[in-house]
Amino acid sequence: MTRETHEGGAAPAFEAIGLTRSYDLEGVSVDALRGVDLRIDQGEFVAILGPSGSGKSTLMHLLGCLDRPTSGVLRVGGVDVATLDDTRLAELRNETIGFVFQSFHLLARTPALDNVALPLVYRGVARSERRARAQKALEAVGLGHRLGHRPSQMSGGEQQRVAIARALVGDPKVVLADEPTGNLDTRNGDEVMALLEGLNADSGVAVVLVTHEPDVAARAHRQIHVRDGLIERDTRTRTAPAAASEGDGK
Ligand SMILES: Nc1ncnc2c1ncn2[C@@H]1O[C@H](COP(=O)(O)OP(=O)(O)O)[C@@H](O)[C@H]1O
Ligand SMILES: [Mg+2]
Repeated sequence: MTRETHEGGAAPAFEAIGLTRSYDLEGVSVDALRGVDLRIDQGEFVAILGPSGSGKSTLMHLLGCLDRPTSGVLRVGGVDVATLDDTRLAELRNETIGFVFQSFHLLARTPALDNVALPLVYRGVARSERRARAQKALEAVGLGHRLGHRPSQMSGGEQQRVAIARALVGDPKVVLADEPTGNLDTRNGDEVMALLEGLNADSGVAVVLVTHEPDVAARAHRQIHVRDGLIERDTRTRTAPAAASEGDGK
């Protein structure tokens, strides 16, 4: 689904121009995003920071095609989401993006293997292949010995690793993680970050994560600070991948 740009390079993972999202709360409009311009290239590792209520989750939902902008342009892998109906938007999401949430969002009484295989069900992958790929994804996060365990029998750190395996099982181009270490102790948070770092370095998967923790943000290569629905600051602490180094990072 990714399109090539006219220069022939890979399209950016995300391009937002004047992106807004307003929520209607009993007749009162809340402007969660007020005009965001942003470009994130393939293979980047980005942290999004900002006070509670500043619009971080709203932005992640838009980037992840879980929601649509109120106005502005959003291109995901070069595709303008406004040109897609809901079915095609869901397909783009399923093929391009893996999600990791603070509260894991796993089916508590369903074995880890089936939780991880779930995104492949929506893709119409045959059962035996689903199971093989889910097993491989669980092995990749160090949970090859926990295939039949249910999330309700697992520690928080293990549950988040199951969620990462589920995000990876479809070979996404991007992993979006909304406070992935927010409910974890230091050691488990560290393991989750090591997995995301390895994924970015070894497979070139772009990682965009929201965090409140400065030491987590410092491990990303770029820090985007959001305030009152706008990007307040966008800094790079490490150079972007070679294939995606042109431009000013916006
Ligand atoms: N589904 C919703 N309905 C109404 N208002 C919402 C909804 N989601 C978020 N908001 C509001 O939008 C603003 C930004 O929220 P959010 O993106 O969740 O911020 P953050 O993730 O930075 O804490 C807040 O004022 C919040 O109350
Ligand atoms: Mg949030």
